[in-house]
Amino acid sequence: MGYRNLGFFPFPWLLWLSLVPLCMGRFVVEKNSLRVTSPEKIRGTYDSAIGNFGIPQYGGSLAGVVVYPKENQKGCKDFGDFHISFQSKPGSLPIFVMVDRGDCLFALKVWNAQKVGASAVLVADHLDEPLITMDSPEEDGSTATYVENITIPSALIRKGFSEQLKKEINAGEMVSLSLDWREAVPHPDDRVEYELWTNSNDECGFKCDMLMEFLKDFKGAAQILERRRYTQFTPHYITWFCPQAFTLSRQCKSQCINHGRYCAPDPEQDFNSGYDGKDVVIENLRQLCVFRAANNTGKPWIWWDYVTDFQIRCPMKEKKYNKECAHSVIKSLGLDMDSIEKCMGDPDADSENPVLKEEQQAQIGKGSRGDVTILPTLVVNNRQYRGKLAKGAVLKAICAGFEEATEPSICLSSDIETNECLENNGGCWQDRAANLTACKDTYRGRVCECPLVDGVQLKGDGYTICEARGPGRCNVNNGGCWQESRNGLSMSACVDNGEVKCKCPPGFKGDGVKTCEDINECKEKKACQCSECSCTNTWGSYDCSCSGDLLYMRDHDTCISKNASAAKSSWSFFWVILIGLAIAAGGAYMVYKYRLRAYMDSEIRAIMAQYMPLDSQGEVPNHVHGDRLDRL
Ligand SMILES: *[C@@H]1O[C@H](CO)[C@@H](O)[C@H](O)[C@H]1NC(C)=O
Ligand SMILES: *[C@@H]1O[C@H](CO)[C@@H](O)[C@H](O)[C@H]1NC(C)=O
Ligand SMILES: *[C@@H]1O[C@H](CO)[C@@H](O)[C@H](O)[C@H]1NC(C)=O
Repeated sequence: MGYRNLGFFPFPWLLWLSLVPLCMGRFVVEKNSLRVTSPEKIRGTYDSAIGNFGIPQYGGSLAGVVVYPKENQKGCKDFGDFHISFQSKPGSLPIFVMVDRGDCLFALKVWNAQKVGASAVLVADHLDEPLITMDSPEEDGSTATYVENITIPSALIRKGFSEQLKKEINAGEMVSLSLDWREAVPHPDDRVEYELWTNSNDECGFKCDMLMEFLKDFKGAAQILERRRYTQFTPHYITWFCPQAFTLSRQCKSQCINHGRYCAPDPEQDFNSGYDGKDVVIENLRQLCVFRAANNTGKPWIWWDYVTDFQIRCPMKEKKYNKECAHSVIKSLGLDMDSIEKCMGDPDADSENPVLKEEQQAQIGKGSRGDVTILPTLVVNNRQYRGKLAKGAVLKAICAGFEEATEPSICLSSDIETNECLENNGGCWQDRAANLTACKDTYRGRVCECPLVDGVQLKGDGYTICEARGPGRCNVNNGGCWQESRNGLSMSACVDNGEVKCKCPPGFKGDGVKTCEDINECKEKKACQCSECSCTNTWGSYDCSCSGDLLYMRDHDTCISKNASAAKSSWSFFWVILIGLAIAAGGAYMVYKYRLRAYMDSEIRAIMAQYMPLDSQGEVPNHVHGDRLDRL
């Protein structure tokens, strides 16, 4: 299984090719702090090498107790067959299962332990040797399905340390330890530098599928981080070279460019059919040049668009993995074709290509990083990332590269799936009815923070209470009141007058919280009931129309003539006549009253004159009773 750790060469004949640049460098295994907290006798920190699958908790730590199974000690068989379970009971510490190396793939041991509830796996080396990185298996159709599903972290530990652990466990001691990723990524400044050692080959089985999937998934986050200058990303591509003596061999000619200087293995491991290693090197070189062209325009993130578009539009399967297809992708992204062609140079020339030369030099480790030998490899702040190449896990590792409190908001968003909110809502406040929660998964673990809802920040402790305060409360879950929309018309029962109240809007009746029903104004309010009226109930109101030329006046709930000005003048004419008549009648009455009194006076005078002599006889009227009204 030795060559598994040396790259993606499954065939021994290719091994000499792969080893050529490596003899100059060295292989550094990323070590994590594995700290034994009890028993006292073996307390301390030990080396371990985190596996290249599963999900390590970058930025966090995991504490548990070690269990060494009595049977199936290599973990190659199903633990269920031995009735062994590592499920920890609620409230007890998670279980780290220790298994011995050998007999089967590392990944299978870890998968078997995960299936019965282990929280992490320690693989005990069987030889006294330096640590190596446990890699995910190469192309093996049957393993691919479970490797993908491994979510627990695993670490290889040295033989000597494992024997100490076994001794304590056999003596009945409880061995507790913690795996710590908090300092796994250094954070020297406020920008994270990371590089991905990748490959344009899309037909190498499980590893290629995983890489292609990762590129697609991670693109969004990578572009956000890069655009906002939180990160500086650089893609890299591994190439090998043919030893001088073989440059003219058929193998080197089909796998290499620039006279054996830059090579890649044949995608199908068959020189006679399909694509050659040479095609892969050329596309890798193109992708490097696309990055440079994009970087020169100040938009390095376009590389992510190119590689994902190329993967979708130009797959090997459809025989589109070629220059023409690549050019159409470059064109659609508006990149400068000439500068890319110039950067690629002449693949047939017997000379160095400066771009690929740089890549070969970068492959050799510097400082803490070590040589890049596994594809794909992610390097964050010059440390190799270990674990599954998956969006959430990688984002966590990148976020761990920021100093605490300088991390971008994407690190504190739900994009990072720690999934602690799934269980019991992480112990945070929630409103199930409104589908609101204060639980947020961040790479440092879950936090309980009152959510922002439709632009209104809820306030509270996040654990037991979150509520809308200040204006805009009706925007949050509609203040807990009834609301409904029909035909583009929205109705709400929320009334905010310094205090939220639920009151059905006009035209509705109900409690305002759960229900508000439309009022049928035609029936219940007896609206629009005049003889010319015809009433139609609508949602929240009613329509009234009048027959003929008449117009409905809602205020008076009556129909009137549409010819409003004519009606007005005829009415005023009527009033003029009426007032005139009234004045005339009043005047006539006054005259009558006056004449009547004058007549009465003269009658009295006439009667009195019959009994005594009066001064002025001549004033006695000479009248007839019967016609006195005629004279008025
Ligand atoms: C892995 O997970 C997927 C989806 O959750 C599931 O469909 C598949 O059966 C799992 N594979 C194995 C080997 O359990
Ligand atoms: C990309 O551009 C930045 C600054 O513009 C530069 O520092 C960096 O070296 C460039 N990367 C490559 C691979 O050219
Ligand atoms: C609740 O909200 C989340 C995200 O806001 C959404 O993904 C989910 O589908 C919602 N669930 C329901 C039942 O509305």
